[in-house]
Amino acid sequence: MTQMHPVSRVARIAALALLLLAWATVAPAAEPRYEGFKKCASCHKSQSQSWRKTGHAKALALLEPGARSEAKRRAKLDPGKDYSKDKDCLGCHVTGLGKDGGYDPADPGIYLVGVSCESCHGPGGRYQGLHREAAERFDKNKLTTPRQALADAGQDFGFVERCNACHLNYRGSPWKGARAPYNPFAPELDAKYRFEFDKAVRDVKAMHEHFRLEGAFTGPPLPPFHDELQAKARPIGKDDR
Ligand code: HEC
Ligand code: HEC
Ligand code: HEC
Ligand code: HEC
Repeated sequence: MTQMHPVSRVARIAALALLLLAWATVAPAAEPRYEGFKKCASCHKSQSQSWRKTGHAKALALLEPGARSEAKRRAKLDPGKDYSKDKDCLGCHVTGLGKDGGYDPADPGIYLVGVSCESCHGPGGRYQGLHREAAERFDKNKLTTPRQALADAGQDFGFVERCNACHLNYRGSPWKGARAPYNPFAPELDAKYRFEFDKAVRDVKAMHEHFRLEGAFTGPPLPPFHDELQAKARPIGKDDR
């Protein structure tokens, strides 16, 4: 019988540990739960009131019969048809379709209707509690929290890929993530459907208005347009939180 040399045994254990580590980093972590916009709105009244006026908030209504009939006809859709339960459409007109806590056509929650907060900021299941804790620390003794903690909990500060998943997900799109069900309103149909992120994210009619942050969170990650938007931002309403 060959006795294993103690060094090679250590090496084998180390190799196994490395393998486990590699597996743990590759294995997809479960996506946090969607909470619905009522939770976010309870603390962020100013952004919510502004968001409610945007096309994103009203996106589900576009799937109803008679809505935007001319556009539907041009896209070879039936303007008289009710698409509001159609899985080929819903994914980009509600929040978190088929995801944990997300919109379920069999039991549609009213706080997941339309393209809402979590469609852009990411599912809030793990990060929204951190907002509450950070706010308490900040309000009491001006202690700040690293923004990285939010990113680690699933809050999205990049935005681009989330917008792309709806706006660039059409047949023949240059975006490499494109897959069915596709957005029927592609630039091929009309140049106005062309999506340029840098322009779109600054579109004051499509996006909610921006309000000045008090600074409870600090440091990276931040999108490159953050300072520009904050420079033009108004203070939040008095009764916001
Ligand atoms: C879940 C899908 C979804 C996501 C995510 C999404 N949008 Fe939209 N967006 C829509 C839909 C649907 C409309 C159409 C609203 C209408 O016509 O009333 C729209 C409309 C718009 C418009 C106005 C129409 C146009 O194309 O010029 C802009 C600008 C826009 N979105 C920008 C963005 C940006 C920037 C992001 C990411 C930060 C984003 N959207 C994320 C679905 C989405
Ligand atoms: C992959 C995402 C996606 C899917 C799937 C999708 N849409 Fe949309 N839809 C969008 C986006 C993004 C816009 C905004 C287009 C723009 O203005 O640039 C939009 C806009 C619209 C509009 C407004 C178009 C206009 O010019 O006013 C209607 C109506 C609409 N969608 C209906 C539907 C229907 C019906 C289906 C299913 C057959 C569907 N959508 C499937 C993403 C999607
Ligand atoms: C279509 C995408 C989109 C939707 C929907 C959306 N946001 Fe935002 N939000 C953004 C972007 C982009 C920023 C700018 C981020 C930055 O400057 O760092 C932002 C910034 C914010 C900020 C930081 C302060 C500010 O005003 O810039 C808060 C708070 C916020 N959003 C809350 C919400 C809430 C609450 C909702 C839902 C009621 C919501 N957002 C819906 C894209 C979106
Ligand atoms: C208990 C209250 C509360 C809830 C619930 C809450 N937030 Fe916040 N959020 C805050 C506070 C407080 C801040 C720090 C604001 C500041 O620094 O001015 C913040 C910061 C933010 C920011 C800016 C982060 C940064 O870059 O500094 C965004 C974006 C945001 N919240 C979105 C959301 C979304 C989306 C939801 C729902 C999923 C949500 N919040 C739920 C209280 C809350």
